[in-house]
This record gives sequence, C-alpha cells and structure tokens, in this order.
Amino acid sequence: MKILNNVVKGFLCFAVVLFVLSFKSKKIEISSSSIKNDPIDRKVDSVLALMHLNEKIGQLVQYAGKWNATGPSSSDRDQYKLDKLKKGEVGSMLNITSVKSIRETQRIVMEHSRIKIPLIFAYDVIHGYKTIFPIPLGETASWDLEAIKLSSSIAAKESAASGLNWTFAPMIDVSRDARWGRIMEGAGEDPYLNSVVGVARIQGLQGDNLSNVLTIAACAKHLAGYGFGEAGRDYNTVNIGENELHNTILPPFKAAAQAGVATFMNSFNDIDGIPATGHKVLQRDILKGQWGWNGFVVSDWGSIGEMVTHGYAEDTKHAAQIALNAGSDMDMESYAYQSHLEALLSENKVSIGQINDAVKRVLKLKFQLGLFDDPYKYCNEQREKDEIYTKENLEIARDVAKKSIVLLKNKDKVLPLSKNVKSIAVIGPLANDKDTPLGNWRAKATYNSAVSLLEGIKSAVGKKTIVKYEKGVDLTVPNIPEGSNQFSFPLEFNTIDSSGMANAVELAKNSDVVVLAIGENAYQSGEGRSQTNIGFFGLQNQLLEAVYKVNKNIVVVLMNGRPMELQRLSEITPAILECWHLGSQAGYAIADVLFGDYNPSGKLPVSFPYHVGQEPLYYNQKNTGRPSNAKHVTFSAYRDSPKTALYPFGFGLSYTQFSYTDLKLSQDEMDADGEIKASIKITNTGERMGEEVVQLYIRDVTGSLIRPIKELKGFDKIMLKAGETKTVTFNINAEMLQFYTANKIWEVEPGKFNVWIGGNSITTLKETFVVK
Ligand code: BGC
Repeated sequence: MKILNNVVKGFLCFAVVLFVLSFKSKKIEISSSSIKNDPIDRKVDSVLALMHLNEKIGQLVQYAGKWNATGPSSSDRDQYKLDKLKKGEVGSMLNITSVKSIRETQRIVMEHSRIKIPLIFAYDVIHGYKTIFPIPLGETASWDLEAIKLSSSIAAKESAASGLNWTFAPMIDVSRDARWGRIMEGAGEDPYLNSVVGVARIQGLQGDNLSNVLTIAACAKHLAGYGFGEAGRDYNTVNIGENELHNTILPPFKAAAQAGVATFMNSFNDIDGIPATGHKVLQRDILKGQWGWNGFVVSDWGSIGEMVTHGYAEDTKHAAQIALNAGSDMDMESYAYQSHLEALLSENKVSIGQINDAVKRVLKLKFQLGLFDDPYKYCNEQREKDEIYTKENLEIARDVAKKSIVLLKNKDKVLPLSKNVKSIAVIGPLANDKDTPLGNWRAKATYNSAVSLLEGIKSAVGKKTIVKYEKGVDLTVPNIPEGSNQFSFPLEFNTIDSSGMANAVELAKNSDVVVLAIGENAYQSGEGRSQTNIGFFGLQNQLLEAVYKVNKNIVVVLMNGRPMELQRLSEITPAILECWHLGSQAGYAIADVLFGDYNPSGKLPVSFPYHVGQEPLYYNQKNTGRPSNAKHVTFSAYRDSPKTALYPFGFGLSYTQFSYTDLKLSQDEMDADGEIKASIKITNTGERMGEEVVQLYIRDVTGSLIRPIKELKGFDKIMLKAGETKTVTFNINAEMLQFYTANKIWEVEPGKFNVWIGGNSITTLKETFVVK
C-alpha cells in the first residue's frame, strides 16, 4: 500500500511539473513547491524527466570563471561560456568568488535558461579561504583531528559566506616523494594518517548536513595514484601494481567514501598505462560499484582532453567516450562532453543510462545543498562582510598553527627562550616575510597579510629585550603581478643578492641569540612545483655558515612545503623548529613555541631524508631480501648516505620528556575475527606539562604478499602533567590486520604479528601475537 501511495504521489508530482511546463510555453519553471516534500531521489527523477539532452549534457560540464584560471585557458572562450550559461548548458562554475560575482553568474542561468537548474560554485579552498591555516601537510603534523576538523569548518564557513558551495579538498593522495611540489597539499606518506585526517577534513567542510549554509561540499582527490608520479615530477606516469594500489593508495579514498564525501576528483596521471580519468575499474567498479558510493566524480582540469596527449584517446571525442564510460561524471574545462556526448550517444558509443546516471548524481548534490529551494542561498552580502577573517577565526588559526609546529632538535634545552633575553638577532630571508607563511593554494588570502616571525617575536618579548632584524639574503618572488594566481608567477626567485650578508653577520655577533628563518618560498611547493633539489635555495647555506661562525647560539625556524635536506643544519645548530607555511597567524604561533607559552607537540607526517637521492623515502617500506648488514657490501643500502631518515615519520620533541614502559598485550593469540588489547604506560619525566602522540604500529610478519615492515594503525594524543603516568590502550581488531591479499580480497591472514607502541616510527618496544 505504502509503495502504491509513493508511486501515486510521484506521478502526481510529475504531473504538476508537466502542467507548469505546458502552461508556460516559453519559460519553464521547475516548481520546487510541488516537489519540496519528496525524498531527494524522487525530486531528482522529476527534474530529470523535464530535461532535454543538451541540458542533461550541460549538467556534466564545468567551466572556470575567466578571472582566475587554475589551468591553461583562453579568453576567447568567455563568450562561448556565457552562451552556454544562458542556454542552461553548464552544471558548475569554478574560480568565481565573491557574493557579487556568484550572484551575477547564477542570475544568468536563472533568468535566461529554459529549465533554470542552479549552478554549483566551486573553488580550491585548500587550507582556509581568507583566514589561512597551516598548509595541509603542516596541519597534519598536529595529529590533532579535532583541530583539523575545526580548521576545515572555518574554511567552509568563510567560503560559504562568500557564495561558494563546493571545494576541491581534501587531497588524500599518499605522498612519499619530497621532490613532488604537491606533497604540501596532503597528509603525508602514510595511508592510515591520510584516511583519518581526510575524514576529519571532510567532516569539517561538510558538517552533518550539506544544506546548512555554514558548510560546503568536499571533494576527495585525486583518484588515484597522483602522489606516485615517477621521480617526483608532477603529472608524471605512475607504475604501480595492484598491491600498492589497493593496500597503500586506495584506503584513504575508501574512508572518504564511507564518510560520505559529496564528490571525488580523478587525476592527471596514468596508472600502469591507463589514465586515471579513463579508469573504469577505479571509478565504476570500485568507487561506485564495490563501495556503493553515490556522489559524482569531477575530472581534473582538462584531464579528459589530456587523454589524447597521453596517447590513450585518438581525439577529444574519443576521450569523452572513454571518460564517460569509465565513470567520470563532470568534465572540468575539457569541452569534451559539451562538444561530443550528443554525437557519441547517437552512435551508441555512450548510453543514455550513463548520461542519466551522471546527471542524477549532480542534481542530487544541488538538492542536498538546497540550491533548488533558493539558488542564491549562499549569496548573502552581510555574511560576507561579517563572517570572513574574523578575530575569532584568526585566533583558531593561531591555535592550529602552534599545534602544527614540530621541534626537531633542542640540544641543551636552548628552547624555550627566555622572554627577558637581552638581545635577539632575527635573521634570514623569511624572518620578516609576511607572504611566505601563507603558503601555496592560499585561496583569497591577501598578499603580505601573514604575521611575520619578526612581528611575532616583538609581540612576545619583554620591554627590555632588544630585537633587531637583518634579512641577510633573498628568497622572494620578484614583482608578483596584481590579480595573478599561483600559476602565473615567474618560476625564478631572487636568490643571489648577498648585499645584506655582512650586516646579518654583524648583528649575529652582537646578539645573545640568533633566530634564523630559512627554508622555501611559498611558491616552491604546490602544483607544478616539483624540484630535484630539496636543499636551501640561493645563498641560505652561506648565510647559515657565516652566522654560525660568529654565534653558535642559533635557533633555526624552518618554513617550507616539503621535507628538506637538513643534514648540515642539524649537525651545527642546537635547535630546529619545523614551522611549514603556517598561515595568517604564523609569527604569533611560532613565538608561542619559541618562548614556551606553548609546549610543542607536533610529529612529522613525512620522513625527512639525509639526501634527496633517497627519495621516495617512507617508513612503511617492504623488506628486501637483503635489508641490512653493515659489514658487507651486498646489502640494500647507499654507499654515500644512510638509507634511513634523518628525522623519521612520527618524530617530534617536546620541552618535556616522555618514557614508555610496560607494553602488554591482553592475549598472545587472537581469532581472525577477534580482538586483543595492547596497552602501554607513558610517564612525563620532565618538568613541565606536555602533549604526546602515542603511536601504534603493526607488522604482519609473513603474508601472501610482502607486508610493510611497520604500519601505523592507531594513535592517541594525550596530555601529561610533569611526573604523571597514564596508560594508553589500543584495541587491535580484524579491520586493522586485514589487507588486500594474493586472493584479491581484503582478509586477515593467520600467522605472526608484531606490535610496537611509542613516540615515533622507529620505536623499539615490541610485542608479538599470533592470529589463529
Ligand atoms: C588541480 C586540482 C584543482 C583543479 C582546479 C588542477 O590543476 O590538479 O587539484 O582542484 O586544478 O583548480
């Protein structure tokens, strides 16, 4: 009876809409009131039934607003795009920002198109909209999922207040190569960390309900393998097998699908000869099939068309055919769907079922966002004025930034510095830089708007402390053109001006302590910013050596978007703080740590090598048959460099110390579907309160496929008072032990497992159990 009722209701609703259609012969309104109380899927079907083929195809098209291209584009397309908008043949626009521009663009569709389906507006909001948070890699170093969720929720709130509905974040590509510029955009080298951080970011962006005007839709990207480009070169080919794909790359994507991420983006690279954009197994079979995920997949910028350049499609038409068949629902800036889907349909090379399915997925999100109820729902000038870059948001940015700092070295407790130290020399190309801390992918940040390190230090010290600054050498981008974005900057930096060196040395000589800010310019990392050199550009090494000669009391503040070569630095300087690109409040956050108002608690989400030649370097490698034998040449190593990390994954110091004792397992045997507990005691043996990230690692000792020598499976960030001891307990269950085995299914294989718990990935406290 209930089913019949629903059918009747559905039919009535459809009839009402049809009536509206026939009555208004020229302009057709979709009466949202007639379909308001229906579940979303039925509303979607009602709208779909009204659509002509060109309008359906249009929903699968995304174009960029002309004023902010994030990929190759040309302005002669502007008129074309405008015509398409008027005809209702565009589903989404990207890179249009501000309530005014978004309202104007939406109005074009609502006033001119036959069917008036609202646009979704998308933008790369990667680590904040106007209030800028640490770059995602840096923020991950906090290992604080609540803080990460909060920062994403602020990014969503500010974006939504300026009219946006959708961001292309989070990036959840496992990233193990420091040469790759986009390593700054993700959560580092570990699949588990990428999963939980990715989910926290999705939850922060989307909240519980997409129709809430404080939230926006997220997009997990890039499906898949983009972080594995050969030699760390952006967009490069990816040659991985099924083991790596399933066990390393896909887990964060599965976690994102399960967390209800609204959309996915595919990627530029090919995987073993198949471009990800045209990869049917990934998009249709796994994502939409096995995982049962029902959102839509957007292509990356022009990636459908690029299948021609790859040599996988003969022409753009063929590329459109491959992409739609493979499950790519929306075409970002390839013009492939718009130009060719109609012909492909008439030639039976794509099906109407595929087109309808893709359109329904897009319409569904528009309903979920509430855009059918009010296409201007997110266009509120007052909110745009009141809710962006607020004092409160900036305070949260400072809090997240200080939690993201990693203390790499602190010999003889040089840090924290006293606020009453007599004189501080603040030296280096990044010391008074108000722009670099904003990092790349900085959305609508105002140029030069970050709090510099110098400003932070000045605001923290006592009145009597003398703080003086010398830049020493340069590391800047010359003449950033007005209104340009990250892709239009010159690739060269000013790095050869050494005229300030002598003054810097003089200042260092006459000061009690030197705070030296060096590292990378904001635009050395990010898309298209791969490097073969991960050391210090320009004359920074010379500056370090010259300053060191006259003053050994150096605290190095690193600002960078990737792991760097720090060997020499860590030999000679007593204290190193890894400060990434920390965002709007960088200087205050660094000063909080420098002077001990905050006890650093960050841990590295990526391994830092001795030498770039070790890249890709990651802790969770597989063993070779000849892992190590220091006395013999024929083992897997380098003759000119250690093979281990200089600073390993999970590593980070505190101003206090922690000791780990009494690692215990509740049992030494476990059923394949059972559970055991692993517990450990952690004591704060130092003199001040501090936080510690307690990390659980497991190894499946023998497998049908070789398993990594250690894998992160859980962590807990705890606070301990001086002298306090806490017991941390992890439940180890089947989900943590299973992997994609030689049987090509996820299962737990019986046998021996090692368990480690400690404060980083080279911890040695170990226990063993057996799965029966
Ligand atoms: C990037 C994506 C980004 C898109 C839109 C592409 O070049 O790879 O991550 O979301 O541009 O700006």
